[in-house]
Amino acid sequence: MDRFENKIALITGSSQGIGAACALRLAKEGCNIILNGHKFDERGEKLIAEIQDMGRKAAFLEADLSKADAATKLITDAVGVFGHLDILVNNAGVEKNASFWEVTEEDYDLIMNTNLKGVFFSIQSFVNYCRKSKIAGTVINMSSVHEEIAFPNFAAYCASKGGLMMLTRNLASELAQFNIRINNVAPGAISTPINDDLLNDKKQLEKVLQNIPLKRMGKPENVAAVVAFLASDDAAYVTGSTYYVDGGLTYHYEEQ
Ligand code: NAI
Repeated sequence: MDRFENKIALITGSSQGIGAACALRLAKEGCNIILNGHKFDERGEKLIAEIQDMGRKAAFLEADLSKADAATKLITDAVGVFGHLDILVNNAGVEKNASFWEVTEEDYDLIMNTNLKGVFFSIQSFVNYCRKSKIAGTVINMSSVHEEIAFPNFAAYCASKGGLMMLTRNLASELAQFNIRINNVAPGAISTPINDDLLNDKKQLEKVLQNIPLKRMGKPENVAAVVAFLASDDAAYVTGSTYYVDGGLTYHYEEQ
C-alpha cells in the first residue's frame, strides 16, 4: 500500500544525508517530492532521476534557509510546483565545533538562523497555506538527541535544537485546531557527511560507539523510516512528540 499516494512533500536540505534518504523513502511509498538545498547540482539531478524512476514527480528548489524571507518564499514556491503541499520536513541543519568561549557571533547566527529561525518561518508560511487551503498538513522537524542531552563544544547547536523542541511542543497545541500535526525526529550518531570528521577518526569513533547501546552508527534510512511513519496517517494521533532514532544513546545508563 502506498501511504502517500497523491501527496506532495517538501524536504529541506535534501541533496545528501538524512534529507536525501527521507526523499527516497517517501517517494518509495508514493509521495511526490520537492527537494531543496542552497544550490541545485549533480546530487539533486541524480535524486530527481531516482524518484522519477519510481514513477513519482520530483523537483528541486534552491533556497538559503538561514534567511526568514527565503524560508517563507520556499513554501509558496513549493505549492506552485505541483499545485499543493501536504508534508513539510524541516531537515536542513548545520553544526560547528568550538569551545563555548570561542564561538563567534557569525557562527552563532548561522546555526541559530538555519536550525531555528528558518524552520520557524517555513512552518509559519506552511501553516498560513494550510489554513487558507483547508489542508491538514503535517510537519516533521529534524531535531537531534541534543535537544535533550548536552554536547560540549556545540553550545549554539544544542541551543538551536533545544529551541526546536519547545517550538514543536508549543505548535502542537496551537495548531491542533487546524488538524495540523507537528513532531520532531531526534537522530543520534548517523553516518552522513556532517559526521565526516568523526567517521575518519577511528579513536574518537570507538569512544562514541561505546556510548551507544546498539554499538553502531545509524543509517540515514533508519531516520527516514521514522519520518515516513510520522508523516503518514499511521501517526494520526501523534503530535508534539520527539521520536529518538539513536540506538539507545539518549537514555543510556552505564554501570560503573
Ligand atoms: P548533512 O550536512 O549531510 O546535510 C544537511 C543538508 O542541509 C546539506 O545538504 C546542506 O547543504 C543543507 N543545508 C544546510 N544549511 C542550509 C541552508 N541554509 N539552506 C538550505 N540547505 C541547507 O547533514 P545530515 O547529517 O544529513 O543532517 C540533517 C539534519 O539532521 C540536520 O538538521 C542535523 O542537525 C540533523 N542531525 C544529524 C545527525 C547526524 O548524526 N548526522 C544527528 C542529529 C541531528
